[in-house]
Amino acid sequence: MAASNLAKALFWGFFLERCLLFVDSAIGVNWGTLSSHKLPPSVVVDLMRENKIGKVKLFDADPEVLWALRGSGIEVMVGIPNDLLAALASSIAASDQWVGQNVSRYLVKGGVDIRYVAVGNEPFLTNYQGRYQSLVLPAMLNLQQSLARANLAGYIKLVVPCNADAYQSASVPSQGVFRPELTQIMTQLVSFLNSNGSPFVVNIYPFLSLYQSADFPQDYAFFEGSSHPVVDGQNVYYNAFDGNFDTLVAALSKIGYGQMPVAVGEVGWPTEGAPSANLSAARAFNQGLISHVLSNKGTPSRPGIPPVDIYLFSLLDEEQKNILPGNFERHWGIYSFDGQAKYPLNLGLGNGWLKNARNVPYLPSRWCIANPSQDLTGVTNHMKLACSFADCTTLYYGGSCNTIGEKGNISYAFNSYYQLQKQESKSCDFDGLGIVTFLDPSVGDCRFLVGISDSSGCCLGCGILCALWFVSLWVIIYLRVVDSL
Ligand SMILES: *[C@@H]1O[C@H](CO)[C@@H](O)[C@H](O)[C@H]1NC(C)=O
Ligand SMILES: *[C@@H]1O[C@H](CO)[C@@H](O)[C@H](O)[C@H]1NC(C)=O
Ligand SMILES: *[C@@H]1O[C@H](CO)[C@@H](O)[C@H](O)[C@H]1NC(C)=O
Repeated sequence: MAASNLAKALFWGFFLERCLLFVDSAIGVNWGTLSSHKLPPSVVVDLMRENKIGKVKLFDADPEVLWALRGSGIEVMVGIPNDLLAALASSIAASDQWVGQNVSRYLVKGGVDIRYVAVGNEPFLTNYQGRYQSLVLPAMLNLQQSLARANLAGYIKLVVPCNADAYQSASVPSQGVFRPELTQIMTQLVSFLNSNGSPFVVNIYPFLSLYQSADFPQDYAFFEGSSHPVVDGQNVYYNAFDGNFDTLVAALSKIGYGQMPVAVGEVGWPTEGAPSANLSAARAFNQGLISHVLSNKGTPSRPGIPPVDIYLFSLLDEEQKNILPGNFERHWGIYSFDGQAKYPLNLGLGNGWLKNARNVPYLPSRWCIANPSQDLTGVTNHMKLACSFADCTTLYYGGSCNTIGEKGNISYAFNSYYQLQKQESKSCDFDGLGIVTFLDPSVGDCRFLVGISDSSGCCLGCGILCALWFVSLWVIIYLRVVDSL
């Protein structure tokens, strides 16, 4: 008993100490890792600290990522992928294991400040056709018990990040309701969240509204006022973000939880891959959003009450994301894949413009291009193959490399594949059509990337092996010496 109280005191002491080091801001980021050019997690954590980003939302519980977050003081939301919901819903042993392996073991002095567990990611998305619908609550009930058994139920909150398609409105925000088939589940879910003091987490994307609907008024997507305001009784809406947020508030009111705190799990604007996805639009949206949230104005139906937290989507570009929704999916980052700020942005954390990542372990400065002395007529299949593995989305309409010409296209595809293969020399062959160059082939805004080395994983492995080797060497020498005495 005494020992456990001591442990608790140390635990809370550690977190209080951490809290004092960071501004308790409402602006966080999503950190997704669907990239073949992954920055070492420690570089990403340094990048966040350098920019005073105090909250991060993850999509899983990758041990390498959590390991790097140890002692950082950054508040973490870990995620449970939808695929795990079935197991967690059906077995308390599985949920005990999940909590043990992915939460408890990090909650030690000098550990990771895990505050939220996201149970599924947009599990009610219409596209899933109800596949996960009935699993969410049973999984939450099991996880809540597991957290309680680990003495963490008071500290760690379960949430469910929902896509904004969970609710709808026939016209104005005050008409908001949950999708009819979700009404019962949402009522149970929100009652559960409410009894645990958890916020409702929603992902809001004015970009998608603009992208999907030709008659969506462009200025309504941003925060500079709109020539098409939405009049809803006494309330007037000048931006899609507020309109969407208050549609959710109305839906929550209709099931009896109009006061439910709301956090925004994802919100952002991509920089390429669609006509309305570009640097200036992304900058205008994100900066407008941050100023709007930090002004504490709230929304027309919740004046003076901003969302509890917002997590920008996203910290980094992820060039292995599925592009079924559109090429823009790979370009949501406020930073490119290698931690370089794409545009000046002030996160409102008292730190000025975004600062770039440091100590990025790039591969050597070399690129693969189309061999200028070769006839390139037979190149189509090579290009197709290269682009089926590597990212070529920038070559298309609305992309930064769309106008680099036919030969440029080929070189771009070759290089993307070559970097994906970590500059492995055979990967620039393409039946003799490719050639390695040491001159940067980038043109204008079209950047030919240089990949990132996998050194972190390798060196950790090498480090342990080398240490073992070193120790055994000394043991052998010692034994020899003892022997010879
Ligand atoms: C912990 O999380 C990781 C990453 O999401 C997952 O692969 C693993 O299965 C989880 N552990 C358990 C016991 O479920
Ligand atoms: C960027 O996107 C915005 C928003 O859709 C659009 O108004 C603007 O024309 C675009 N800018 C460029 C340079 O394409
Ligand atoms: C380069 O490739 C893109 C994507 O296929 C295409 O839209 C563009 O027209 C190509 N450029 C040339 C000159 O072929």
